Amino acid sequence: MSAGVTVWFTGLSGAGKTTLCGLVKAGLIAAGARVEVLDGDDVRRHLAPDLGFSREDRMKNIERAAFVARLLSRNGVIVLASFITPYQSMRNYLRQELDPYIEVYVRCSLKECIRRDVKGLYRKALRGEVPRFTGISDEYEEPVNPDVTVDTEQCSKEEGARLILDFLRRRSFI
Ligand code: PPS
Ligand code: ADP
Ligand code: MG
Repeated sequence: MSAGVTVWFTGLSGAGKTTLCGLVKAGLIAAGARVEVLDGDDVRRHLAPDLGFSREDRMKNIERAAFVARLLSRNGVIVLASFITPYQSMRNYLRQELDPYIEVYVRCSLKECIRRDVKGLYRKALRGEVPRFTGISDEYEEPVNPDVTVDTEQCSKEEGARLILDFLRRRSFI
């Protein structure tokens, strides 16, 4: 059985986490790997409908996702996890809980995320209609030790995905 791994994407809403996960997934499937995506929006719908966005609820959400990631990765699956994961303490927890764990910082300025406003959430948050919205009324702490940083204002989504796939290849996960 080939080795599993959790690749954890962290970044602001609209930074490009879901987009990059999709492209990396396609690249991994083409390379013959077994892969599953755990995406915040999806996991919250199915595994965490009881949780909101307080610090405590966000942590519970991450803990549940990490639990699933561990089950999958220990069975040889490459897990692509896409969550804002806004606090450094969460990422420290993940690095301790998941082995192997690769952290991908999907970097994008708040200004550009607001410009993209993929789901119209920033517009609402700026009007004060979304409590504790990351970047507006809740913190996003910059990752201190990401394994890979993809700046989605500096490179295309295809280049970003290639960077992550190259990293996984160098580490012999594909
Ligand atoms: S966390 O902080 O890691 O638990 O967040 P996550 O599970 O990734 O959920 C983020 C998605 O929820 C939507 N959303 C919000 N995000 C941030 N803050 C607030 N208050 C909020 N309310 C709803 C939003 O669609 C996020 O998805 P992405 O893909 O990041 O845009
Ligand atoms: P997130 O899941 O982090 O909230 P999404 O992937 O849903 O972000 O949205 C990112 C948006 O930014 C998409 O509309 C995507 O097409 C766009 N985008 C522009 N350039 C890039 C890039 N280099 N990498 C990823 N996404 C990009
Ligand atoms: Mg997303």
